[in-house]
Amino acid sequence: MDFFDSNIKLLGASVLALFSAASIYLVSYIGYNLFLHPLRSYPGPKSWAALRLPWAYHQVIGDNNDKMLEFHKKYGPCIRIAPDELSYATSQAWRDVYAHRPGQPEMSKTTIFQASAPNKIPSILGANKENHARFRKLLSYAFSEKGMREQEPRIKEHVDLLITRLQELSETGQSQDVLLWYTRAAFDIIGDLAFGESFHSLSDKKTHDWMRATWDNLRYVMTGNIFKFYGFGFLMAYLLPKGTVEGRLRNFQYTQTKVEARLRYGSERGDFWDKIVIKSEDDNAGGQGMTKGEMLNNAAVLVFAGSDTVATLSSGMTYLLSRNPDKLAKLTEEIRSAYKSSDDMDLINVGQLKYLPAVMDESLRVYPAVPVQIARIVPNGGAMINGKFVPAGTSVNVQQHPSYHLESNFYRPDDFIPERWLENRDPVFENDDRAAHQPFGVGPRNCIGKNLAYAETKLIMCKVLWNFDISLDEAKMGEQGEWLNQKSYGLWEKKPLWVKLTQRKN
Ligand code: HEM
Repeated sequence: MDFFDSNIKLLGASVLALFSAASIYLVSYIGYNLFLHPLRSYPGPKSWAALRLPWAYHQVIGDNNDKMLEFHKKYGPCIRIAPDELSYATSQAWRDVYAHRPGQPEMSKTTIFQASAPNKIPSILGANKENHARFRKLLSYAFSEKGMREQEPRIKEHVDLLITRLQELSETGQSQDVLLWYTRAAFDIIGDLAFGESFHSLSDKKTHDWMRATWDNLRYVMTGNIFKFYGFGFLMAYLLPKGTVEGRLRNFQYTQTKVEARLRYGSERGDFWDKIVIKSEDDNAGGQGMTKGEMLNNAAVLVFAGSDTVATLSSGMTYLLSRNPDKLAKLTEEIRSAYKSSDDMDLINVGQLKYLPAVMDESLRVYPAVPVQIARIVPNGGAMINGKFVPAGTSVNVQQHPSYHLESNFYRPDDFIPERWLENRDPVFENDDRAAHQPFGVGPRNCIGKNLAYAETKLIMCKVLWNFDISLDEAKMGEQGEWLNQKSYGLWEKKPLWVKLTQRKN
């Protein structure tokens, strides 16, 4: 009994010692972060500066965007949001953090969101400088003006099929979830351009399971990496919902099947892959192409980056226009007076409209398709950001959504006013910091698909507004602004967008 008692006592003492050591460490760590850390003088919520835990919690529940806006409003344009992270909301910070820095090292992306694929090979999103430049070079032709012109008939075909589907549905007299249909169209287009074959979701009237799987992959990365950050990466498969883990694997299985099928077609398919295939012989023996593993991960990025974003922008525009009938009427009038028929529209001539780009830019401001910009790490030697020296190793970023909703950057930031982007704008908008609005990012790692995204969305919106009078189904939508109130996991987790489509009377 004595032996048993003394062992219990020893165990109790050990637990107490461990607990005391952990508490002392935690208190010292918090004390250091608050009172001695080089970033101690930056404003922001103290609990976030003390530990990364509040940031991580809000990341997992998907409302960090709202928190960032709240903090930037309260503490100003540069705030500390974790012991080692600063968040900015100025055009100067876009230049300092993301743009080319002649003669200075590039700021690399933070590893907390590096999407480590199952094969562990970095994609264009996480590749080092040399590999990133190789990937960009291989893909640049597909995204050039010439490349896009070659792809135009394919894009048009899908947008026309979208309109046919919406016409059929409008005859039922019921409102439709246009988000679903925009997503299907964008997904089919990227399938066709990236692999030379559509996913057939418009023709089959069925969303491909791959779309769901791409979202599971995003959730896995955006929330699961936080477990990795705290050293529990090995538990991810158990801590995350089973559906998310399985969906992520399906995402890569679908990609693998598609990439392998695409490689069998060679280099004359007229899609993104032609140039890559030419340079990648013998699993990139020459070093100028891509290995099979790189192709796989880059293809997965292209499918997701090229579909969800376009669907988000098209839905955002539809929603914001429907909530602002005077702007909707103005844009509809511009489109209907520019074309005699919906068939006359193409990727190039939609570029001639003047009010449409203003509506797109304003939609991307009020509801940016990519609300969160991936943070960068300040390299050795530190850097001047927003006029102040920031030490090496600090994580720095510009938050898109919060930046666009600050009065310090935009007059009447919460209102949808496309006119602010027109050349002959009202002088009240002269103080808008337009360079703070960078929906496609800045610098060597900005969005490679920007031209495609603009052209594709313009064509979709032109054809929809040429063919239909649109209005929200209020009964299904809820109160004003409700649709924009979404969670974000790097990208918005969107809700159905119920729209009444009435075929236009000629
Ligand atoms: C409204 C539509 C879109 C928006 C707002 C958007 C925005 C962005 C942003 C903000 C970035 C990250 C920049 C950074 O980390 O600094 C990015 C990267 C990227 N986007 Fe887009 N994007 C859109 C559509 C597209 C499309 C249609 C494609 C085509 C497949 C595409 C492909 C990519 C790729 C491959 C990257 C990584 C580029 C790199 O790291 O070099 N995006 N995009």
